[in-house]
Amino acid sequence: MLSKKLLQIVPSATFAMKAKAQELIRQGKKIVSLTIGECDLPMPKHVSSAALAAIQAGHHNYTDSGGLYELKQAIINKFKRDNNIDYTVNQVMAATGGKQALYNIFQAILNPGDEVILPEPFWVSYIEQIHLADGVPVVINTIPNNFKLTAELVKQAITPKTKAVVLNSPSNPTGVIVDDQELKKIAELAVKHNFYVISDEVYEFLYFTEKKPLSIASFGKEIFDLTLTVNAISKSFSMTGWRLGFVGGSAEIIKLMDNLQSQSTSNPNIIAQYAAIAALNGDLKCVYEMRDVFKVRRDFIKSKLATIPNIEVAPMEGAFYAFINVGKYFNNQIKSSFDFCLKLLGEVGLGLTPGGAFGPSCDQYVRMSYAADIDVLEEGILRLKKFLKN
Ligand SMILES: Cc1ncc(COP(=O)(O)O)c(C=O)c1O
Repeated sequence: MLSKKLLQIVPSATFAMKAKAQELIRQGKKIVSLTIGECDLPMPKHVSSAALAAIQAGHHNYTDSGGLYELKQAIINKFKRDNNIDYTVNQVMAATGGKQALYNIFQAILNPGDEVILPEPFWVSYIEQIHLADGVPVVINTIPNNFKLTAELVKQAITPKTKAVVLNSPSNPTGVIVDDQELKKIAELAVKHNFYVISDEVYEFLYFTEKKPLSIASFGKEIFDLTLTVNAISKSFSMTGWRLGFVGGSAEIIKLMDNLQSQSTSNPNIIAQYAAIAALNGDLKCVYEMRDVFKVRRDFIKSKLATIPNIEVAPMEGAFYAFINVGKYFNNQIKSSFDFCLKLLGEVGLGLTPGGAFGPSCDQYVRMSYAADIDVLEEGILRLKKFLKN
């Protein structure tokens, strides 16, 4: 018998849908794939130049498992500059993507049976990573509250076994941002009930609200001690394939995560680390230019979706996703978001991600990534309309 735990793990639905779309593309079909959360814009020139310089300088060796000292300094500076959080060098580490940083966190803080409050809709990997660490996800549904997480919802889920809450603002898959007032109240709850806050801020620069979302760890010493702030260069710098994420948190937890990483993957790729130093120390102009491009796309998709009858869309406040309720189009043949996406791909060649992957209450939804050129988005909307008319 193979590992019982791994036999239960569901593969990432976003990767699965992307693979299906790519298979059809290889067969010569004209597919519009708006499945995966991946920026199509080029990465910043100064960052690729730094990576090239690192190769030319002959950097080829292992580094400290948590990353080069210079990278840790860059991470510290970034958290100070963008998030108003003061970490020291033993309170930060780099990992192979934000995903590995999160995996390390769950492994470091959870014992069997510990509960993790997980607001739904949630990014697909949290729930599986919690299972992999023998934790128990306690899913709280934000859909009836127009996808807005509130402290009251968190409060209702707290039990003596609560070990942590996961925050992801702006959110994948909804794009919704947690309001500052609620964030403050969630911080108070965490301090009062002594549980950790895992704050996944990988979409921090992709906000279309007036001001940048705040980082919960910046609210004071007590919540700082309980928070693990996760980030990555993946989304902000259009560098998903470089696999470089990072985290700030208490030295005690970072040490455990570092130990785990040293025994599993050793260290993030050294050239990606040099690239990240350039990205994190550099000017943020390139990041805001990308955000401006996404704002245009967001406005475009939002206005187009508004013309389609019988669908509802979550507030598009950030990230690069539209989370769309297509439940009114379900019928005898389409009984779930998975059926919907498979038929959509087969009939009109449009790839979207089934909402069912983002939580048990999300099966009437589909996620459309608008990290694509306007022409591609326009074609995607045309295909969606054509499909819905059938
Ligand atoms: C909410 C969220 N967190 C973390 C990640 C992981 O990012 P990375 O590519 O840096 O591993 C993703 C990637 O899709 C994400 O959407």
